[in-house]
Amino acid sequence: MTNPKPLSGTEGYAQEAEALTQRYERLTLEQVHGDALALFPKPPASVLDIGAGTGRDAAALAARGHKVVVAVEPTKELREHGQKVHAAHKIKWLDDGLPELDKVLDLDRRYDLVLLTAVWMHLDKDQRAAAMPSVASLTAPGGRIVLSLRHGPVPEGRRMFPVTPAETVALAEGQGLITLYNKPRADMQGRDGVSWTWLIFERPNA
Ligand SMILES: C[S@@+](CC[C@H](N)C(=O)[O-])C[C@H]1O[C@@H](n2cnc3c(N)ncnc32)[C@H](O)[C@@H]1O
Repeated sequence: MTNPKPLSGTEGYAQEAEALTQRYERLTLEQVHGDALALFPKPPASVLDIGAGTGRDAAALAARGHKVVVAVEPTKELREHGQKVHAAHKIKWLDDGLPELDKVLDLDRRYDLVLLTAVWMHLDKDQRAAAMPSVASLTAPGGRIVLSLRHGPVPEGRRMFPVTPAETVALAEGQGLITLYNKPRADMQGRDGVSWTWLIFERPNA
């Protein structure tokens, strides 16, 4: 039987899962999110980590006392590794992906924190436009979305698009979200030509 086609955006991840796992897990939540961490909701809150990789952030947030932590990861190899290395943490893992998020939507709940760390640029323009309304609807009133955009060269075998902060802000604000944080960031792994933008959006209370 042939393997099913990977979900768009995940190309290249399964083949490199072993090396990527070590790279992701070497970093901490604090190193990855820097001063943006001060704007994360305080525990106990509910967290949805979309494109969670090996669950580094999901596990760290569970350890901080967040009450519900859902990690969505479509690449089987990364998800299974995360389930193993973070087995001590109460994380609900889902094999699901953007833009549809069918299984996440089936859970029928909203989250105080939605994380999209290093994921959004794997979606093309239409997929980004389709995903933002779902992401906004999954955010609880007063809840926040943390989204990082990678800029620079595309690693071989990956599917990645140039995405501007301006486009992302316009999509988010089009869904009634408020921009709380919009800052450029150097690459934490020091890779040539790679840089980031960190964005935080809030869903208003009323
Ligand atoms: C650069 S990694 C970041 C992983 C993790 N968030 C972190 O910061 O370590 C990007 C992740 O997005 C996942 N991904 C790619 N396309 C996706 C999609 N369409 N929906 C959800 N996740 C996707 C990949 O499988 C991979 O785990």
